[in-house]
Amino acid sequence: MKLIFLGPPGAGKGTISQRLVRKEGMVQISAGDLLREAVKKQTALGMKAKSYMEKGELVPDQLVIDLMVERVRRPDCKRGFILDGFPRTIAQAEALQRNKIPIDTVVNFTVAEETLIRRLSGRRMHRITGEIFNIHTLPPPPGTKEADLIQRPDDKPEAIKKRIEVYKRETLPLIDFYEREGKLVNVDGEGSSEKVLQGVLKAIA
Ligand code: AP5
Repeated sequence: MKLIFLGPPGAGKGTISQRLVRKEGMVQISAGDLLREAVKKQTALGMKAKSYMEKGELVPDQLVIDLMVERVRRPDCKRGFILDGFPRTIAQAEALQRNKIPIDTVVNFTVAEETLIRRLSGRRMHRITGEIFNIHTLPPPPGTKEADLIQRPDDKPEAIKKRIEVYKRETLPLIDFYEREGKLVNVDGEGSSEKVLQGVLKAIA
């Protein structure tokens, strides 16, 4: 299946993508992960993207479009993929059409704003293993040193506020866009990740 995961920051797009990768062997293509990798490696793209990401703003369309279109065209995506966090603007959605990248279903995660803030402010990554925890919803195992848990720069309160604002302005219009195409399914993103996963499996069956 060729899927788009749409939803506000903290809706659980990445968490559910990873569970589907493990369960169904799908390929997850996360725009945010690819951009963070570019920032870490200090590539030309990473240098351009860094300041936008830290402030919670969107990286300019053309940079993300080139990155994602190139990735989707690789052979491992022939059997299916999940676009996690792409498209996020009408221009990005139109670029998918222009590049003739077919999409079967767009899963739109609906989550209350207070849940998003709680999830994002609680997210921590283990410095060594890269595992994602959440001090509110998925605490690290006892004995984990606090100094080993790092917070994404864009999970600080100011950047979270900005990301939610940007989502409402730039990404919400995609709901109508894909509804008109008859591709949109809404999934309740509240509750445990197992419950959300079951909702997604039912919606894409
Ligand atoms: P990106 O990394 O994609 O950030 P985001 O969309 O803001 O997504 P998140 O990873 O914060 O949320 P998510 O929905 O994946 O939730 P997750 O599963 O991680 O993008 C970062 C930045 O890159 C953007 O701000 C922008 O600058 C740039 N960028 C990315 N894509 C772009 C694009 N297309 N165009 C331009 N710029 C782009 O979960 C979050 C937390 O909640 C975790 O701690 C998790 O454990 C917890 N959690 C998740 N689900 C549950 C649950 N059901 N119950 C309890 N806890 C849960």
